[in-house]
Amino acid sequence: MYCNRPSLSWRSPAAAALLAATASILLSLPVAAQAPADLAAGEQAYAKCMGCHSPEHNRTGPLHCGLLGRESGSVKDYDYSQAMRKARIIWNAETLDQFLAAPLSNVPGTSMGFAGIPDSQERRNLIAWLATLNASSDRCRSILSKPRENS
Ligand code: HEC
Repeated sequence: MYCNRPSLSWRSPAAAALLAATASILLSLPVAAQAPADLAAGEQAYAKCMGCHSPEHNRTGPLHCGLLGRESGSVKDYDYSQAMRKARIIWNAETLDQFLAAPLSNVPGTSMGFAGIPDSQERRNLIAWLATLNASSDRCRSILSKPRENS
């Protein structure tokens, strides 16, 4: 027996709307998979660095004010390893993401004794927060206007 009940035709406006809605959900998925950076979470993640680093002062590791945009091994009065001096990396979101995932294999021979941050969202949050440590931030402005940072 034939089943002839009128069904939802793929040519109907309702079906077209359904298809469009499905397509837009599918298209937005790759964007949704990458959550935006969370600055507060990034500042919290910096607790992992504070045993050795501070934004404003060289400690076991070099200061982080002005990190984004500067070349690796370039803080004048900090005693870097040969490996970091020779790495010639410009620190930006991409290079920091690679370095912080696995510092010891990204810059073999570095004296940064830290295993890394495996979680990519945590790295994204942290890097977004590090990017706020620039010349227009209150905590870094005076440090970055000193001549020693300018060469
Ligand atoms: C156990 C101590 C230690 C910890 C923890 C640590 N670092 Fe470091 N970091 C260092 C040292 C030492 C250096 C200098 C490395 C060299 O000269 O090879 C360094 C260098 C760096 C550099 C290169 C800076 C430049 O001027 O070229 C970056 C970027 C960095 N650290 C980021 C971080 C971040 C972000 C964290 C936290 C997730 C972190 N570090 C945790 C000790 C540490």
